[in-house]
Amino acid sequence: MAKDNTDIWTMKGLKWSILVASCFFFACSQPASESKEEQLPTDSMTVVNGVERTELALLMRKMYDEMALVKDSIKEGFTVKTNFLNEFKRIQTAHATEPEKIDATYKAMADAFLINYELFESSQGEQAKAFNSMLQNCLVCHENKCPGPVKAIKKLRIKP
Ligand code: HEC
Repeated sequence: MAKDNTDIWTMKGLKWSILVASCFFFACSQPASESKEEQLPTDSMTVVNGVERTELALLMRKMYDEMALVKDSIKEGFTVKTNFLNEFKRIQTAHATEPEKIDATYKAMADAFLINYELFESSQGEQAKAFNSMLQNCLVCHENKCPGPVKAIKKLRIKP
């Protein structure tokens, strides 16, 4: 890829462009989401930018935003110390937009993700490798359950 562009992309502007862009391409499948909204229970819902979001969607959004920051820091050569494991464990229990997606397969993939997230948090050196392995677990679940954000998640990979 063009090396001269990397500076622009690693600067703070990137974080904002991620936040802005994330409003557009993050639904599991964009067109279907509108028609479902009315059937959802309201107690586990929060309104963000005029769009109602479930607890799981908000948690996922946070995971994405945090992992984008982590990626930038690792790329810039920093050693990253995060402490999100307990919070991210909520992917096992948080209410989802489509609760039928939370089946045994989801739970197994969520376990695998959390194991890899823990490995990343405890990694000494080789952080990029541990980060990419953890990200692979985001992708496995997304390819199965929620393909919308796959492209965006792939962009978080740290290239060697
Ligand atoms: C075990 C399965 C699973 C794993 C692991 C997983 N996701 Fe998700 N993700 C989902 C599901 C299901 C949704 C839909 C949530 C909803 O709409 O309630 C979702 C939604 C999202 C969204 C869209 C949120 C929104 O604004 O609507 C993003 C972004 C996302 N995930 C990123 C990630 C990232 C980054 C990781 C890894 C750090 C990850 N996910 C790991 C299943 C998973």
